[in-house]
Amino acid sequence: MKKVRAFAPATVANMGCGFDIMGMTLNGVGDVVSVEVSEGDELIINNVSGVELPEDIEKNVITPAARALMAAAGEKKKLVFTIEKKIHPGSGIGSSAASSAAAVYALNEALGRPFDDEKLVEFAMEGEKLISKGVPHADNVAPAILGGVVLLRSYEPLDIVRLPVPGKFCCTVAHPEIMVSTAMARQVLPKEISMHTAVTQWGNVAGLVAGLAMGDIDLMGRSMMDVVAEPYRKQFIPEFDRLKEKVLKMGALAMNISGAGPSVFALSKDMQTAESIGRTMEEHFKSLGHNADIYVTKVSNSGAKIIND
Ligand code: HSE
Repeated sequence: MKKVRAFAPATVANMGCGFDIMGMTLNGVGDVVSVEVSEGDELIINNVSGVELPEDIEKNVITPAARALMAAAGEKKKLVFTIEKKIHPGSGIGSSAASSAAAVYALNEALGRPFDDEKLVEFAMEGEKLISKGVPHADNVAPAILGGVVLLRSYEPLDIVRLPVPGKFCCTVAHPEIMVSTAMARQVLPKEISMHTAVTQWGNVAGLVAGLAMGDIDLMGRSMMDVVAEPYRKQFIPEFDRLKEKVLKMGALAMNISGAGPSVFALSKDMQTAESIGRTMEEHFKSLGHNADIYVTKVSNSGAKIIND
């Protein structure tokens, strides 16, 4: 029997304008999953994290991700996963992605590393497919495994581009206690967008990538405007526009919905601004009857890792 534990970080998907194609890694927040591999052909998932999760393993993102990896490896084993630490589901900071990323990372290690990290992204995407009703996206799982800022240039075939992370880049994330499922947040989106909307959005995506490549965080900030998803999703976040106005006045370069929401995130040039934005976000949600978890962190360059006891 071989036991391996792995950590995978929380992530901010979309980064404003990059719906389904960009994501970044937060420092220090994430999931810990262990796997025990022995002879047999069975999949068991224990949850000791204290966070409520569906008991049916068919509804757990780890199941399709682990099955995809085992099928590609051509292996049959008894796998016992234990979710030891968990970000709250529906938080908008890649909760499901952190679990499937940590699970495939640990499993790959336990099997003697048959796959590289980019291949692990493909397996972890199977978990995202489960919770977004059939649409596999990698803007959380890719940064959760690889770390840093990641661009999915293409899904068919998968083309993952790692972008440089400017050193001065501080991020405030507020996770209000509101439940928004990814499926629900995707359902409200239009199936088609106008040419004008598309032109605006791809100008911003190009500006964000250029800003990252050139280390120009002002360009990044003014490019992080989302005209595709935010107009439809902000209804789930109480008084989103008022909060955004306040946060931008405080010196944030940008404020957007994190992933499918309900978390929001703001970018700042320094920690002091990022921390006072955190307090403002907390007060905003509290005054509307919602407690909020606040994370103030740099964007991390490190993704999933093995934890040695
Ligand atoms: N890109 C995804 C979305 C992230 O916005 O729906 C959430 O999983």
